[in-house]
Amino acid sequence: MNEQANLEPLVGKIVKDPQLHARWINTFSFLEYIGFRKIVKSQQAETLNATTLGHAVEEGRHALRLKKLAIQTGGPAFESYTADVLLCGEEAEDYFQSLDHQCEALFADRNEAARSRLTYLYVTWLVERRALEVYGLYKKILGAGPVAQKLDGLLAEEVGHLRQVESEIAQNDPQHETHARLAEALETKLYEAFIGALSASISARADASL
Ligand SMILES: [Fe+2]
Ligand SMILES: [Fe+2]
Repeated sequence: MNEQANLEPLVGKIVKDPQLHARWINTFSFLEYIGFRKIVKSQQAETLNATTLGHAVEEGRHALRLKKLAIQTGGPAFESYTADVLLCGEEAEDYFQSLDHQCEALFADRNEAARSRLTYLYVTWLVERRALEVYGLYKKILGAGPVAQKLDGLLAEEVGHLRQVESEIAQNDPQHETHARLAEALETKLYEAFIGALSASISARADASL
């Protein structure tokens, strides 16, 4: 995949600089936090099941685990999610929020409960696949260090979420092949925009330090 080829040298540069590395980890903590918040806000208590509640809790735990790692790597300034301790935080949030709105629009003809459930399922499906790809690449670049070990449990839980939503989508959406193709194309575009912004921001930093 093209963006993936672009990402590898970028992450290679990021992990060599502890401050940039801490910002990178904190940005993923931020995305995990948004994921946690989205699940909690989008699901109605009357229909929230144990699996979805468990998913929200696990995303919250991922946010916390990465937050602690960001603080360990970069110091106490990484307690917050302000722009100066994130990498393209605004663009990262845009990726997630736009994905949510665009997926929701695919199900505009459904009633509110069905629309929010399908949006949750497809957004989760897309984000989990992307998370596995990006965390997998990040782990490979880190090699066998202590940070890489801490990613193992997180990756295993993301695989569990992916399997769970895949089976729920297959069971509940008769048009899942069409929707999956459409949703995938939306996500690829948004992800490319995020990686483009990240790449531009890292190059601008490198130029400024020359
Ligand atoms: Fe997660
Ligand atoms: Fe997840």
